[in-house]
Amino acid sequence: MAGFQSLPGFRDYHPEDFSRRQQVFRVWRSAATAFGFQEYDAPVLEPLDLYKAKSGEEIETQLFSFTDKGGREVSLRPEMTPTVCRMVGEKAGSLKRPIKWFSIAEFYRYERAQKGRLRAFHQLNADIFGEAGPEAEIELIALLIQCLAGFGLTQDDFIIRLSDRNLWFYYLEALGFTAAQIPAVLTVVDRFDKAGAPQVEAFKPYVEKFGPLDQTTKNRVHAFALQSGSNFSEQEILTLWLQDAKPEAREKVSARMADFRKIMDGLADMGLKDFVEMDMMVVRGLAYYTGFVFEAFDRKGDLRALAGGGRYNDLVKKLGGPDLPAVGFAIGDVTTGLLLEQHKKTEPYANAPAVYAVIGGEAARKTAFADIQALRASGVRVEYPFKDLAFGKQFKTASESGAKLALIYGDDELAKRVVKLRDLADRSERDVPHDQVVAVVRDLLSRR
Ligand code: HAM
Repeated sequence: MAGFQSLPGFRDYHPEDFSRRQQVFRVWRSAATAFGFQEYDAPVLEPLDLYKAKSGEEIETQLFSFTDKGGREVSLRPEMTPTVCRMVGEKAGSLKRPIKWFSIAEFYRYERAQKGRLRAFHQLNADIFGEAGPEAEIELIALLIQCLAGFGLTQDDFIIRLSDRNLWFYYLEALGFTAAQIPAVLTVVDRFDKAGAPQVEAFKPYVEKFGPLDQTTKNRVHAFALQSGSNFSEQEILTLWLQDAKPEAREKVSARMADFRKIMDGLADMGLKDFVEMDMMVVRGLAYYTGFVFEAFDRKGDLRALAGGGRYNDLVKKLGGPDLPAVGFAIGDVTTGLLLEQHKKTEPYANAPAVYAVIGGEAARKTAFADIQALRASGVRVEYPFKDLAFGKQFKTASESGAKLALIYGDDELAKRVVKLRDLADRSERDVPHDQVVAVVRDLLSRR
């Protein structure tokens, strides 16, 4: 079928693939529901303006955007966050707080082809609106952990790296960066983190970009970034920070550290301590984050991020809604799928009927059809051959199908007004009167 392949970065879902996708969605949905989140959905096509300058430069260059036949500038959605802010903003007055919403949906970004990144992918988005305190972060990080632990993955398989953009702001301000420069410095830190192993020398050229700062300041930025990376203790970060912080910033820094502690303690009380570590190298590439940010990675570091999120207290208001604090995350299906394969946590593809009907001819087919329909209407999966075939062939198909039971409609059975029921596992057989077929089959299946 040359010439008719799917577009690069887009996937066909054959039944085996679809079943794997459903497994992922099932685990995510059951986690989100157990945490009390309500499910919503939204349009795939949105006004282009919703993303311009809201999502950040990187996403803007990746939009699948066009002008529709009515002359509107539109875009396929690259993410859910601006949309959910609009939706919650519209009804904020009437929604009970905290507002806890989730969705599972497909997104589109014109990304460069690489392992773990496609142009159409799914995310579970979970967001909490109306809670300014770190309790919302605890709830979301615990849910993110469950979205991976629900597959049987453990703290040896993945890690959540928690960071804080506010601490970065205070620190960079103390070093003399202006409010306008800081987001750009953080973008550099983000790219540097994604680029791989943190080495002081490698970071230097990035910091060099930042204008007329004296060499000592530049050295401090990159030393800070590196030292605050993984496995650096909270106390050490605090000390490092305070040596540069202005006295008036100290109080702000201490307050943030107290919230940090609250998040870590809450998660520890839930037994989730080993799933999370503080890591200031995480700053997030999206423009709207305002406080704590976090990302999930595989422990081996083979894969791109599994999930990312954080606090974005200004976005609802920027999009025309009320002043509503918000925090959330999205986990993606592509890297999650790769991790599940690596750890052999994908469910085997199962496509077996519960019952296979073996039919001995035209007259038998009439009787069989009545039972088959009654069983199916009661929710039992039944299959039968479309054409009249030799018994031997039908039995072979029945056992190959993986069915647990066979119902045999032969001339002898017809004469006795019964059906022969065969257990395909132990080959035992019994006659069942027609009017009892549904009840007997359902009873047997429920005891398996
Ligand atoms: P994000 O970091 O852009 O955040 O994406 C979150 C996750 O979606 C990533 O960690 C990754 O697993 C997956 N993902 C992103 N792009 C691709 C791609 N091209 N191919 C495959 N997977 C991808 C957001 O989207 C924010 N809106 C999350 C959020 C929700 N923040 C607050 N609430």
